[in-house]
Amino acid sequence: MIPAGGSGELQLVVDVRGKSGMLVKTATVETRRGARVLLMRINLPAPKIESTDAEARARNRMLASADRQAVFKGDCRRCHVAPAAGLAGGLLFHAACGVCHEAEHRASMVPDLAKLDHPTDRAFWKQIIVSGKPGTLMPAFAIDQGGPLSPLQVDSLAAYLVATLSAPPLMATEHAQAK
Ligand code: HEC
Ligand code: HEC
Repeated sequence: MIPAGGSGELQLVVDVRGKSGMLVKTATVETRRGARVLLMRINLPAPKIESTDAEARARNRMLASADRQAVFKGDCRRCHVAPAAGLAGGLLFHAACGVCHEAEHRASMVPDLAKLDHPTDRAFWKQIIVSGKPGTLMPAFAIDQGGPLSPLQVDSLAAYLVATLSAPPLMATEHAQAK
């Protein structure tokens, strides 16, 4: 009970276990002038995926060059599959793709997706996510090609990549200028 005109502390406990992304919670405070709703926005970054040491990394790369789908098997799943479970859009990108493409010490054969040497569109993103790139370390992510991602996850990822990395279509630019 806080006296009128006085101040006090409110302790709010939020269970964030197993959650990531933007969480919105409300708390209702009863006052003499009626209820007031407090809105909390909690930004929980996706957990960073543990790095491998040089020796494990070299061994992992060898296994992947023999079979580019190896990342989705056995112990590799701990870092290359589990963190992406149930996610969509940007969070899915950081967990499933960022592990290789946004690595702090990105391997030389892994390209920076913001600096590809060709234009990209939805069809391109979908194709590369679904089938990867045969003959390289880039795996195929679609379930029906032995990957971990459902068709819905593939679509959400393609939409995120179009929105963040592909050049905006002409219409969108004109619309933005009209405003
Ligand atoms: C402990 C977590 C972890 C495990 C387990 C793991 N990886 Fe990785 N992997 C990473 C991380 C993190 C990166 C990004 C580079 C880095 O920081 O080591 C990566 C990068 C890669 C790359 C891109 C090339 C490179 O060296 O950056 C390949 C290919 C790869 N992993 C394959 C595998 C395979 C195959 C397995 C299982 C045999 C595996 N990984 C197991 C965390 C893991
Ligand atoms: C195990 C590491 C690894 C993971 C995980 C990974 N990639 Fe890649 N990716 C690669 C490598 C290696 C290449 C370079 C292939 C080559 O040699 O041309 C590549 C290439 C690409 C390219 C360039 C293709 C081209 O030729 O223009 C795109 C686009 C791409 N990846 C998107 C993604 C997306 C989207 C995801 C997540 C669904 C993802 N990658 C996950 C390793 C990875």
